[in-house]
Amino acid sequence: MHRTLPDVLPIEWPEGSPQPPASTEQSLDRAADRLRGGGLVAIPTETVYGLAADALDADAVRSIFRAKGRPAGNPLIVHVADVAMARGLAEVWPAAAERITSRLWPGPVTVVVPRNERVPDAVTAGGPTVAVRCPGNRLTRRLIEKVGRPLAAPSANRSEAVSPTTAHHVLDSLGGRIDLILDGGPCPQGIESTVVDCTVAPPRILRPGPVDREAIEAALGQTVATSGEPATMPPDNGQETAGCIGPHAARSPGTQQRHYAPRTPLEIAADPADRVAELARQGGRIGWLTMLADRERLRAVSAAGEVVIVPMPATAELFARQLYATLHAIDRRGLDRIVVDALPDTEAWRAVRDRLSRASHPASPTATVSPVRKGASP
Ligand code: TXA
Ligand code: MG
Repeated sequence: MHRTLPDVLPIEWPEGSPQPPASTEQSLDRAADRLRGGGLVAIPTETVYGLAADALDADAVRSIFRAKGRPAGNPLIVHVADVAMARGLAEVWPAAAERITSRLWPGPVTVVVPRNERVPDAVTAGGPTVAVRCPGNRLTRRLIEKVGRPLAAPSANRSEAVSPTTAHHVLDSLGGRIDLILDGGPCPQGIESTVVDCTVAPPRILRPGPVDREAIEAALGQTVATSGEPATMPPDNGQETAGCIGPHAARSPGTQQRHYAPRTPLEIAADPADRVAELARQGGRIGWLTMLADRERLRAVSAAGEVVIVPMPATAELFARQLYATLHAIDRRGLDRIVVDALPDTEAWRAVRDRLSRASHPASPTATVSPVRKGASP
């Protein structure tokens, strides 16, 4: 374990420049050296920051689990520079994976495919499949090319905590446990990639994300299942089922109930203005993430007590971009409770609803959110 803080190296690639600036190339070279030597480097992606190690080096991969405090049973996503690198990790490359990756990579969608023997058990948690993704951030792809090997990278936060969308979040969560942070600025998507299991037919969305169901189905030319719907046995008819492992492969261990959670207890309220006012009158210090635009109502609620109102964007895409940064910021203020407006029950909001419902789940089956008291510690 490291005792010193990691170096934070800014990287950039201005639009329109054929090459990144020399300082960025030097930073990428340094990061590539560390990764080839078995080190841990936090990297920007278009979704959230990842904690990267050489995916083919089992010791390096195990050190990711130690740094995060992540259970060994939760497999990692392997980041590749292109489709060819992904195919090099797969026992078979299912037609569904080919359709998705040829149309949607680079980008925030991960495909689960049958793994081959190059992939260490530490990456897949001993399972028969591997999750692969080609990140949209071209500096990150350039880094992977420099390393010349795929990079295993979960989100760069302590296990179960809110994912980082800035280099600062990584420093807060993992500083002292990692070698280097590449700072590519805030992540434009703000929530984790869509994960699609391509080893079952029909393919199944294991984790909703920035690429929605409609886009996945358009790329595939077929409908998909989502987690929660019953799995069907793969039909045994050639190409389309190549790589099918069976319905039981459709598990994403990281999609456990409590995840992405801030330290401050969070609840989703169908009637948020009334709920926030009630909690504030009981003496709680409340952070309220709201899309409400009614100024009169907002003023009335904040008059009820100590309420930090955080206006949130009314589109799912912008809401997602800001969500984790907002939760990190509220956590730093040490409030008693976070209240979030119930979100629209539409497909566009599915991924954000998923993250918030996991963030609001109690820490253990027996835990309830303690009643709010004046001055209660977070
Ligand atoms: O956007 C993202 O996907 C980010 C950035 C860094 O790329 N990464 C990320 O990694 O969110 P992580 O480890 O926080 O989440 C990976 C998810 C987990 O839900 C995990 O269980 C699932 O992918 N997963 C990984 N390998 C799998 C496999 N072989 N089969 C099923 N699910 C898998
Ligand atoms: Mg994570």
